[in-house]
Amino acid sequence: MNLLGIDVGTGGTRALLIDKGGRVLASATAEHRHFASPQTGWAEQEPQDWWRACCEAVRKVVSQCGTPASNIAAVSFSGQMHGAVLLDASGNSLRPSLIWCDQRTAEEAAEITQRIGAERLIQLTCNPALTNFTLTKLLWVRKHEPQVFEKFRMLQLPKDYVRFRLTGEYAMDMADASGTLLLDVANRRWSAEVASATGIGMAVLPRLFESSEVCGAVSKEGAEQTGLASGTPVVTGAGDQAAGAVGLGVVAPGTVHATIGTSGVVFASTASPIMDPHGRLHTFCHAVPNRWHVMGVTQAAGLSLRWFRDQFGPNSAGDRDPYDVLADEAASVGPGSGGVLWAPYLMGERTPHLDPDARAALVGLAANHRRAHVVRAIMEGVAFSLRDSFAIFEELQVPVTNIRLGGGGARSPLWRQIQADVYAHSVEIVEAEEGAAYGAALLAGVGAKVWSTVDDACRNVVRVKTIVEPNRESAQIMRRQYSTYRRVYPALRQIRDSYSSQTA
Ligand code: XUL
Repeated sequence: MNLLGIDVGTGGTRALLIDKGGRVLASATAEHRHFASPQTGWAEQEPQDWWRACCEAVRKVVSQCGTPASNIAAVSFSGQMHGAVLLDASGNSLRPSLIWCDQRTAEEAAEITQRIGAERLIQLTCNPALTNFTLTKLLWVRKHEPQVFEKFRMLQLPKDYVRFRLTGEYAMDMADASGTLLLDVANRRWSAEVASATGIGMAVLPRLFESSEVCGAVSKEGAEQTGLASGTPVVTGAGDQAAGAVGLGVVAPGTVHATIGTSGVVFASTASPIMDPHGRLHTFCHAVPNRWHVMGVTQAAGLSLRWFRDQFGPNSAGDRDPYDVLADEAASVGPGSGGVLWAPYLMGERTPHLDPDARAALVGLAANHRRAHVVRAIMEGVAFSLRDSFAIFEELQVPVTNIRLGGGGARSPLWRQIQADVYAHSVEIVEAEEGAAYGAALLAGVGAKVWSTVDDACRNVVRVKTIVEPNRESAQIMRRQYSTYRRVYPALRQIRDSYSSQTA
């Protein structure tokens, strides 16, 4: 029997089929066609487009694997977090979803904080009100599109909507629900106090499940559209960060991961909810019952390099991947990038600055610098920004014994070494570095009783393949460079403040 994990990402939806030994049998991705940014800082996607991509990716995987779809023991999901999908009484999506990186809701975030009180909000939900969180997006729609909000009957997050299309059932897992700001994270239930203080009816909030619990089955319509067998059990799954952590075996305190995707995340599992009184880290439920996690988020991690590649990258890379060409160039420059620094705030910043209006900067350029210096500086700057999260872990005494890498930062040999040097700690690469879809497939396996618990699943299939040690000399250079990096944001902030007071 096989297991299917489906990750509803931002760029596309990926389906991944594994066997009971954790080996990958087939995978396919279908790109999302719809992304709109009608104004600066706005980001919207069309829920129907995620479902279309899911059907396409799953159909491909089912046809690639060569065995009947009835061999799939269970299906589960992971997905981009925080996006608000507003459904009417018949389950139709009322408007495009305001997704995780949409930054239009600063006013709503401030209103929530004012109404509930910053301290009380952290007591109730373990987190402060940030523009990324779903509740702020609901309040924006209520304020600006009351005719839409009037018809709103059910809230889903992106992967929950796709799962709803597959099963016909509404559900949400604790891990993803933690990013709505409507969950009482410590007690794993909806916060009636936050809902009533913000005027959100409890009836729009779906039933909550733990990530490895079965919440439905593939419906007849779902089967027709995806090629899956009707009646296949569907396991709730988790937001992409918690699912990605499961895929990397980061389930018990001590082992943490640093993942560079579009955004960058440093993630630690904890036995109880550990809260940052300054709200710089998110405190969410883990995809494991009775466990929580803290994470720091850099908004533009892989995005920094993608932005550079798109704007200034090689015009022609022949049959080579342009990222490989850029990484080869960057490897020709020594640690410290000849003094060039990159502050990666292309999309504002969450950890540690909580500043949606922060802007990026390249600092220290001279005429002798080449593109190679800039690319290396971008890779180092992203690692410095993740290092900021490790610094907060230290402050809050979150234990860090092993660091596992995920995403693009795990695949690039140069970025692996840069991270080991910047964190001054060895870093581990796992055998199946397959991201959140892999974690979703493991959760499907726990729901289908292939493994008794999530820990058991990880013990059985997640294996470390490579360990990269920090280089002593480079780590020293990085330590100095990091302390200079820490001075860049306050300087940028000062420039922005004086600029906005001049133009006000
Ligand atoms: C996590 C977050 C992102 C999205 C994008 O808080 O916003 O990781 O889930 O994938």
